Amino acid sequence: INTLLICGGGGSEHEVSLRTADFIERQLNHVEDIALVRVEMDGNGRLTDSHGRVHQLTQERALRTEDGKTWEVHYVIPSIHGYPGETGDLQSQLELFGIPYYGCGPEASKICFNKITTKLWLSALGIDNTPYQFLCSNEAEEVGKASMALQEWGQVFVKASNQGSSVGCYKVSSAEELEAALQEAFALSPYVLIEKCLKVRELEVATYTYEGELIITPPGEVCAPAGTFYTYEEKYAEGSHAVTHIEAQGLSDAQLGWIREASRRAFIGLQLKDLSRIDFFLTDDGEIYLNEVNTFPGMTSISMFPKMLENAGHDFSRYLTSLIRAAVK
Ligand code: ADP
Ligand code: DAL
Ligand code: MG
Repeated sequence: INTLLICGGGGSEHEVSLRTADFIERQLNHVEDIALVRVEMDGNGRLTDSHGRVHQLTQERALRTEDGKTWEVHYVIPSIHGYPGETGDLQSQLELFGIPYYGCGPEASKICFNKITTKLWLSALGIDNTPYQFLCSNEAEEVGKASMALQEWGQVFVKASNQGSSVGCYKVSSAEELEAALQEAFALSPYVLIEKCLKVRELEVATYTYEGELIITPPGEVCAPAGTFYTYEEKYAEGSHAVTHIEAQGLSDAQLGWIREASRRAFIGLQLKDLSRIDFFLTDDGEIYLNEVNTFPGMTSISMFPKMLENAGHDFSRYLTSLIRAAVK
């Protein structure tokens, strides 16, 4: 099966996407014919290979080079965090061309990548999520809402609505910090979210379909070092002090059941496909909120999704191969 792995993309998670693609390529190396192309950062949608040759994905379900050579494409893995993969744009094109692909469809991707639409959907599905305010501009009236939220909650998170890997995410305790964070968040996205800062344990659940069955793993846990949060550096930098546990300890059966049920409702309600990593916050008071749904979670060497899948007794390579074979009949 000719499998096209598309990585990179034009967003802030370009580098992380390359690392995820590298993991996936190694998982499939011995079982599928793979071509790897990268969406360049410059936003013109060009696909280039490791020799710098430019390719085009065609309506005839082929990858065509500038000199006219073609390679039939049977399956695509959009290994991109952020635009244009996790945002659903690439998936729309694949739907148009009728090429099967790994992961969620365009609509679910779009909804879940945007932190605001995610919350609207979670609320519509009756799933608790972190208290928030929504700002649609950096004008005085909207900023007033953010200042009130800061006063009420004491400490807030300011989040660009359309980023991942903690890019555009700021912990704010003062009016000065709020102004600076809003400036930066609005430079990245047209909408911004203000969330109550919670003292939390961070739990992550791998949800995926394996041989037609929905698998929901027990939650794993990520622990950022004291005094910070799970920032981009703590996620990816060498020498990060963040600690991960494949299975979180000390949760009650009721808490585990709640998380499992919320994950199941989110996966089904949002009509997710193939995979997602669903992240939760557990507060000191024992409340649980669904924080976000990652339709294309990181698969770097430190990432939780593949580890949780393996911990559930599933071999990643076999899991992915079985999905590909089922999709390309
Ligand atoms: P991203 O999509 O970039 O991962 P998140 O919403 O997951 O964005 O936020 C990134 C990190 O910021 C979280 O993993 C957590 O460490 C911290 N964080 C985000 N929101 C809150 C909150 N409301 N209270 C406490 N910590 C938070
Ligand atoms: N957005 C990153 C890759 C993640 O959530 O894993
Ligand atoms: Mg997150």
